[in-house]
Amino acid sequence: MTPRSRVPAYGIRVATGVVILLCLGGCSDGAPSVLDPRSASAARIADLWWWMLGVSSVVLLVVVGMIAYAIVRGRRRTEEEARGRVPWGEPFIIIAGIVVSGIVLLVFFVVSLQTMRALAEPSEDPELTIEVVAHDWWWEARYPNGGVTANEIHIPAGEPVRLELTTADVIHSFWVPQLGPKMDMIPGRTNELVLEADDPGRYRGQCAEYCGLQHANMILFVVAQEPDAFDDWMDHEAQPAEEPTSDLSRRGREVFLGSTCAACHTIRGTPAEGALGPDLTHLASRETLAAGVLENDAGNLTLWIEAPQSVKPGATMPPTELSSDELGALVAYLSGLE
Ligand code: CUA
Repeated sequence: MTPRSRVPAYGIRVATGVVILLCLGGCSDGAPSVLDPRSASAARIADLWWWMLGVSSVVLLVVVGMIAYAIVRGRRRTEEEARGRVPWGEPFIIIAGIVVSGIVLLVFFVVSLQTMRALAEPSEDPELTIEVVAHDWWWEARYPNGGVTANEIHIPAGEPVRLELTTADVIHSFWVPQLGPKMDMIPGRTNELVLEADDPGRYRGQCAEYCGLQHANMILFVVAQEPDAFDDWMDHEAQPAEEPTSDLSRRGREVFLGSTCAACHTIRGTPAEGALGPDLTHLASRETLAAGVLENDAGNLTLWIEAPQSVKPGATMPPTELSSDELGALVAYLSGLE
C-alpha cells in the first residue's frame, strides 16, 4: 500500500472515532456528569477539566498545524534538506519537544495539586459526620443519632457534611460526580471526604473502583434536603421500626424472624440483629432496592426476595424459599416499614 492510499483509510478511522465519541456522549443522557457540578468542590473539578481541555486543544491545534505545514513544505524542500540536514531541526526538537512539553505538563501538575489541596480543606468545619461503610455491593450509612440506612445518604443542603469512609471487605471508591471528588474506601483505614450540595435534590453516585461482579450495580443516591426536613428525617431514621398494623403484616414479621432473613438483616425494635446485609428498619422509605438496581415497590421486593441472583448475580443475598402466602405476608410487613 502506498502512503497516499493510506490517507483515506486513516481519515475514515478518525471519522469513525469521532462518531463513536459523539454516540458515547449521547449515552450519558440523564446520568450524572462531572461537568454539571452542584457543589463548590465539584465546580472546582469541572473548572480544572475545562482549563485542561482548553490548553490541550491549543497544543493539538499547534501540532496539527505544524504537521500540515511539514506536509506542504516537504513537497518543495531544498536539496540540502532532502539529504536530512535541516539547520534549525535539532534546537527545534529540544525546545518544542522537551522544554515546551515539560513546561505544559509541569503547569498541569501544579494546578492539579492546588485543586486537590483546596478540595481537602473545606471552607467551614462540618457539624455532621456520617459513617459510610462499603460492602460487596451496597453502601451502609450510619448517623450520629443511631440512625442506620443503606444506599441512600441524606444530607442537609447548603451545609458541608463530613463522611468517614471505610469498607467491610475489598477496596471500593465513593463517587458522587456532581458533588465532589472520588475517595477510595480501603480495608483497615478510614478516609474522610467533605460532601456538600448547594441545593436540595437527588444526586446519583457510583462505586468507582472495580470491586467484583456487581461493581457497576453498586449505586447510591445522595438526597440533599432543606435543613429542617433533614433534621426530621434523621430523627425518624433513629426510631425503631413501626409495629405492624394488620394481621397480614404481623404474620409477615413472624416469617421474617423465623427465616434466614433475620440472620443477615437488622430491624431495630425486633430480635433481628443480623449485620451482613442492609438495616431494614425503614426500608419502605427508601426509593430503591439492591443498591439502586430496582425501584422499591411490592413487585420488585417480591422478586428480590425470591430470586436475588436473577437481579444481581453474585450478590451475597441468597434466595429465600417461602410459600407464596409467607412471601405475600413478608412483603406486606416490609412494605409497611416506613
Ligand atoms: Cu464497589 Cu466497585
